[in-house]
Amino acid sequence: MGHRVARAAVHRLAGLGAVTGEVRVTNDKRKGSKGPRVPGFQGELRVPNAGIRIENLSKVFQGRDGGSVIALDGIDLAIEPGSFTCLVGPTGCGKTTLLRIVAGLLASSSGIVMVGEEPVAGPRQDTGMVFQQYSLFPWRNVLDNVAFGLEMRGTGKRERHARAKELLGMVGLARFARSRPYELSGGMQQRVAIARSLATDPDLLLMDEPFGALDERTRHRLQDELLSVWERTGKTVLFVTHNIDEAVYLGQRVVAMADRPSRIADDFPVDIRRPRDRVAPEFVEALLRVRTVLEEVMKESSKQIETTKGG
Ligand SMILES: Nc1ncnc2c1ncn2[C@@H]1O[C@H](COP(=O)(O)OP(=O)(O)OP(=O)(O)O)[C@@H](O)[C@H]1O
Ligand SMILES: [Mg+2]
Repeated sequence: MGHRVARAAVHRLAGLGAVTGEVRVTNDKRKGSKGPRVPGFQGELRVPNAGIRIENLSKVFQGRDGGSVIALDGIDLAIEPGSFTCLVGPTGCGKTTLLRIVAGLLASSSGIVMVGEEPVAGPRQDTGMVFQQYSLFPWRNVLDNVAFGLEMRGTGKRERHARAKELLGMVGLARFARSRPYELSGGMQQRVAIARSLATDPDLLLMDEPFGALDERTRHRLQDELLSVWERTGKTVLFVTHNIDEAVYLGQRVVAMADRPSRIADDFPVDIRRPRDRVAPEFVEALLRVRTVLEEVMKESSKQIETTKGG
């Protein structure tokens, strides 16, 4: 494996986009520059434009026994740039598969997936992903895990460590900068992964149940941190969760997926002022809507399993 390929593989594992991807540039006309030119502007000009367009997306996995699993079947979904969307659905309905395809980590079987103006053809530098399972590099300490994406970009040690420390502070792990991942609890490792996904300041954040392993208090704190990052930066966030309260607290929009066949079962805006009050009537109303849809979906799904068994 060539050096470049090896680095790309490591990078992909971190969910941080391709090493050799186009670098979003500065005030010049190099290929890849997305933003307008601003006279006298020297630094990187960020104009997030990471909307997602998914059309008729399908994914079929081939099993070892020759059988196949239809993980996604003709999904259509459009996500506005700068929006915060929560994706819910029963286990196995294809949420992770969808995220991995949008991240460019997994090829689709058919359909269109665009991020910004471009079809997704592989990992993008401007996408940050937090995986459902912790995916830290065991041989790196916490600080260097968080700083990884910046290191790949060629950011100097002092600068990347300063940024990594700031993010570790944000997730409440400043004291653990020199620890190894195995010395941390599962929830702490997940917080490191969240910090890592933010380090390169990606336009698009794909988060797969990032707060699933956390206690309620920590989860609430990190939800608020994430919201403030989102409000400050205009990132596009696609956030998978099994927690209905979390979906309604965070999302501007909640998309509920169903399985067998996988499809969008419900999709609605959550027009509740922030900061949201978890006991306000409109909050509870939105919760009930999501719960009802999911209960329906589960009922359908178990009926189908019964039919398959019986027939
Ligand atoms: N690499 C793979 N090879 C074969 N089948 C797979 C693979 N990845 C996922 N699947 C199958 O695709 C379907 C969707 O899986 P996926 O992980 O996307 O579900 P999910 O909605 O994220 O579930 P959960 O809520 O449990 O995380 C499942 O039936 C799963 O078994
Ligand atoms: Mg999943």
